[in-house]
Amino acid sequence: MTGELSPIDKAKFAAAKRAVDFVEDGMRVGLGTGSTAAWMVRCLGEMVREDGLKIKGVPTSVRTAELARQVGIEVISLDEAKWLDLTIDGADEFDADLNLIKGGGGALLQEKIVATASDQMIVIADTAKEVATLGAFPLPVEVIPFGWQTTRALIDEALINLDVMGREVTLRMNGEAPFVTDEGNHILDLHLKRIGNPRQLSLVVNQIPGVVENGLFIDICDVVVVGHGDGKVEV
Ligand code: 5RP
Repeated sequence: MTGELSPIDKAKFAAAKRAVDFVEDGMRVGLGTGSTAAWMVRCLGEMVREDGLKIKGVPTSVRTAELARQVGIEVISLDEAKWLDLTIDGADEFDADLNLIKGGGGALLQEKIVATASDQMIVIADTAKEVATLGAFPLPVEVIPFGWQTTRALIDEALINLDVMGREVTLRMNGEAPFVTDEGNHILDLHLKRIGNPRQLSLVVNQIPGVVENGLFIDICDVVVVGHGDGKVEV
C-alpha cells in the first residue's frame, strides 16, 4: 500500500496507521478528508478486507466517499448513522489546546458536522501542523454564493475589531472559476497570520449573514496523533 514514501507521506501514513488502532468492530466512523485522512481510509479498508473488521463509515466529502467505497468500506449517510463512535480526520493546524484550523481541502462544513456528531474526534497530522498560535494557515470560511462580496465586506469590517494580525480576505479559486464546495458554496480564505482569540473569532464570523461555517474547530478534537518523517508517532 505504501511503496517508497517521501518523509511527509511517511509521517502522514504513520499517524493514520496508529489512529486506526482506535477503531473497533461495529463502530460507526466519521471519515475525514485530505491526504492524511486518505491514508486512514486506505488503512481501514485493508482492515475490512483482510481482518474482517466490520464498520460503517460516514464520509466528509464526495472524494472520501469514493475512496471509502473503492477500498471496501460500507458507506452510510450521517442521517442513517445518527451518531458516530469516532471521527478521524486531518487538520491544517493544531495548537496545544487541540484547537484546529481545517478546510484546506474545502470540506470543513461536512467535517465539522461529522466531528461534532461523534463521541470522539482524533486528528492525524504531521509535525508541520503543530503551531503555538493558530493563524499562519489562512482560515477557510464557507459562504453561500449569493451576495458573497457583501459577505466578504461584512467579514472585513468585523475583523477590524478582532485580535488578529492580518486582515486580507480572498475568494478561493479553482482555475478561473470560484471553488465550489460539495454543498455548492464558495470559500473565503482569511489571511490572519495570528489568531489571538479563536473562540471569539469563530463566534463573530458565524454570525455574519451569508457565512455557513468557518474552519476553526474549538473544543471538538480529543486526541492528536502526530506522525514524524522517520515513521515514529506521538499520541
Ligand atoms: C480538508 C481538511 C484537511 O483535513 C486538511 O486540509 C489537511 O489536509 P492534509 O491531510 O492533506 O494536509 O481540513 O478540508
